[in-house]
Parts: sequence; C-alpha cells; structure tokens
Amino acid sequence: MSSHQRSESRPETPGARARRPPTPGADERGTRRPHPGCDELQLLRDAQATLARLVPGLTEPAAPPGPEEHEILQEVAARLFDCAPYAHPLYAGQMMKPPHRVARLAAALAMWLNPNNHSAEGGRASGLMEQEAVAELAAMFGWEAHLGHLCSGGTVANLEALWIADRTRPGGAVIASEQAHYTHRRASELLKLDFHSVAVDRRGCMDVSALRRLLASGCQGTVVATLGSTALGALDPLPEILALRERYDFRLHVDAAYGGYFSLVADLAPRTRAIFAALAQVDSLVVDPHKHGLQPYGCSCLLLRDPSLAPLYRHPAPYAHATDPAPHPGEFTLECSRSGATAVALWATQRLLPLTRGGRFSLALAESLRAAGALDARLRADERFLTLDEPQLDIVVWAPRATLASEISTASRTLLQRALARGLHLSLVDLPAGLLRAHWPQVEFDARHVTCLRSCLVKPEHARWLERIWATLDAAWRAPLA
Ligand SMILES: Cc1ncc(COP(=O)(O)O)c(C=O)c1O
Repeated sequence: MSSHQRSESRPETPGARARRPPTPGADERGTRRPHPGCDELQLLRDAQATLARLVPGLTEPAAPPGPEEHEILQEVAARLFDCAPYAHPLYAGQMMKPPHRVARLAAALAMWLNPNNHSAEGGRASGLMEQEAVAELAAMFGWEAHLGHLCSGGTVANLEALWIADRTRPGGAVIASEQAHYTHRRASELLKLDFHSVAVDRRGCMDVSALRRLLASGCQGTVVATLGSTALGALDPLPEILALRERYDFRLHVDAAYGGYFSLVADLAPRTRAIFAALAQVDSLVVDPHKHGLQPYGCSCLLLRDPSLAPLYRHPAPYAHATDPAPHPGEFTLECSRSGATAVALWATQRLLPLTRGGRFSLALAESLRAAGALDARLRADERFLTLDEPQLDIVVWAPRATLASEISTASRTLLQRALARGLHLSLVDLPAGLLRAHWPQVEFDARHVTCLRSCLVKPEHARWLERIWATLDAAWRAPLA
C-alpha cells in the first residue's frame, strides 16, 4: 500500500470536532500552508510546529542537538542494521510488516507530549482518540456497544480477557485448541485456572466434536476460539461453537490478534465470511493493530461486548481520576500506564485508511490473501513439494517432499538456509505428525513432529513479488550443496 495515498472521505468524529485546533496546518492568520510534499520529516516538522503553537511550554530543548547525540544516533543506526529486512517483499518469514508512515509520524509527534492514557489527566486528547479508534475497531466486527481499549500486545489483551471472564464466572476453566497461541495456557497458569486443550482437525481448526465431548463431560468456563492461528492461519469454526453455546453455557472469547482485520475483505469465501460474521455474537475478542493494522509494536485491542462489565475493573486510585470525572479508557484496563502515542498513531492511520469493507485498507489485505493463494497453487502443482489444504488466510505451510518425516524436517531446514542465502526469508514451523498424516499418506512418520516451511505473506507487495519469490525458491532448491 503506497504511503502517498490520500484519505478516503469519512465523517469527522465528534472528538475531533470538539478538540480541533482552529485550522490544522494553518498559520496564525488561518492561511493554510502549502502541502510540504512527500518529504516525511517535513511532515513531522510541520505538525510539530503546529503542536508547539497550540501547547504552551512545548518547546524544543534550548540547545540544538550536539555532536554526541549525532554520534549516538549513528551508532544506533549501525546497531539496527543487524536484523532482517522486514519491510522488503522478500521477507516472507514471520507475520511482520512495516507500520504505515502516518502511524510512525503521528506516534513521533505525540512523543513530544508523551501522553499516558492511564487517566484523563495523563492524556485527555489521546484518550479521546483511543476511544474513537477503538469504537471503529468494534464497528468493524458489527458491534454496536462495547467496552474496550488498547494495550501493549495480544498476550496482555488475551490475559485481560481471561481475567474478566474469570470475574464473570469465577473458577471456570479455559478451553482452547491445540493450535491456539501458547500464551493462553500461560495466562491460565497466571490466573490459576484449569486449561483444556481441544484437538484440531486436518486444517488445524478446533474439532467441534472434541469440544462438544469436553463440554458434555461437565467442563465449564471460557472457550477461546482462534481466528487466524499463528502457525497455520487456521480459523476455528465459530458458527458451530456459537451453536454449542446455546446448549452448554460458556463464555466465548476470540483470539483474532492476527486474523481479525480480514473481516473487512469484501470477497471472502462464503464459509470464511460466515466465520467472521459470527464475531458479532462473541463475548470478547482481541485484535492486534500491530500485526495487520499497520501499527508500530505495542498496539493490541481488547473488546468486551457488554459495557455493563465496567464495574469489574473498579479499583481504588483516587489520585488518577480525581481531576476529570468523565469516564476515560484508562479506568477500564488491566494495565495502568499505557502509551498515548500508540492511540494517536492508530487514530491517524484509521483516519487515512478507514476500516471499511472493500476500502483501500481491505484491498491491501485481499492482496495478501491473493499472494498466499498463488504461492500455494504453485507449490501444489510442483512435485518437489508437499502441501496442506489451501491457506485460510495469508500463511502458507509446506515442505520439501521426502519419504521419512525426519528427512522432511532436515530438508525444510536446508531449504530455509539456502533461500536465506539468496535473500528470501521464510520461517519454520513444527507440526504434530497427527495433523500431517491425513495430508501426506505416503510419508513414513518416524518422528512425532515434522519441521515444515512457513510463509507469512502479510504485505500486499507479496502478490506482485510472487514471481521473484518463486524464482528465488527455485534457485535455492537447485543450488548445489555447500
Ligand atoms: C493468534 C495470536 N494470539 C496472540 C498472539 C500474541 O500476541 P503478541 O505477540 O502481540 O503478544 C499472537 C502472536 O503472534 C497470535 O498470533
């Protein structure tokens, strides 16, 4: 997605209207300054000058930066060099993509103030922006009412969801699939809750029959469904899980940290659409703007569908909320201090790229789905590789063909290294033999786990770069052994 795109038209939010400076980007007489073009740092300087005019006492340090700071920043740049090129289309390893420019700039701008969204006093404007951005996320899932906020990551957001779940039904267990993110088990340990792991089907989705048996045996508590598992991008069967909730009364939390934004894609397959549509009926969910929402790290969102749960957060902190009696997101969070800059970055990004089905943001996600489908089709048509079922989102898992499971694992590691030597970054995933048997009946499973290759095609550019990705993979395959 190009950073030069112009904003889609969208109504001005009430908060923005209320707090709008006289004319953003205008000088003291209200004359709009010319658009500074596409010099990124000029955008920041311009906005910073406006902020400095509006906020008394917000000035640059009296002394200009000295040679020491210059040297340190040069050193920082040199240190940062030692990493993978996450923004490059040949980086197709983990689910990492660069934040949008407007997010980086808005966060940097807010850093001059460094607001703390733990209370209105710490960040009134950024708290309001958080509420607006979070309401837009809730609307994306068809929620008319919600209680929600941003937090530092999917792990903390899910932990908080389970903490609230336990407060609504004390002592219940946590029930999640074998492919759920590992932190659900850890969160259950922290909360001292029983954890039950439910088997998955051949696609890595929660096995509804296994869940039904567990519930029928008397297990109660919270079912965690994952929409977009980390390893496979698998979608748990939410409509069927909701049907079970009619019979067995449980709380339903959805971990959509990685997959949630795909609900915006216009032309999803009917089954996928039905799964995302079911999100309107769950009790809580987590979506991570720092995964598919173009945000810098430190930005997850927890949503509870029932605002009347707010009193569960009640805590004594008379010093935090005394000066401003209006409700503030920081009163309904597990964490205390939270970055206001994160909220500002998300707000700015959603201003530029509204969360509308079929809008520009969703088209970029559709490109990722297209890239994954195209890579999978290539692999499927090539005798050298073993594949699974078609990807459900934008993660593709496959392996070099071999007779023994242990040979497949070795070949996957070798191919990963050879691809890396040619600039193509992939990742590895260990999958249980039980999940792979149905896909690869001809393989002899001499190990309980098999290491496979995994590609997260999370950047829209991956679709355009597919030829190049494939050519690099092919060259890596053909390379003589070192
Ligand atoms: C499905 C899912 N849930 C939770 C998490 C944890 O999120 P975070 O790394 O932001 O703590 C991840 C991370 O990849 C994930 O994929």
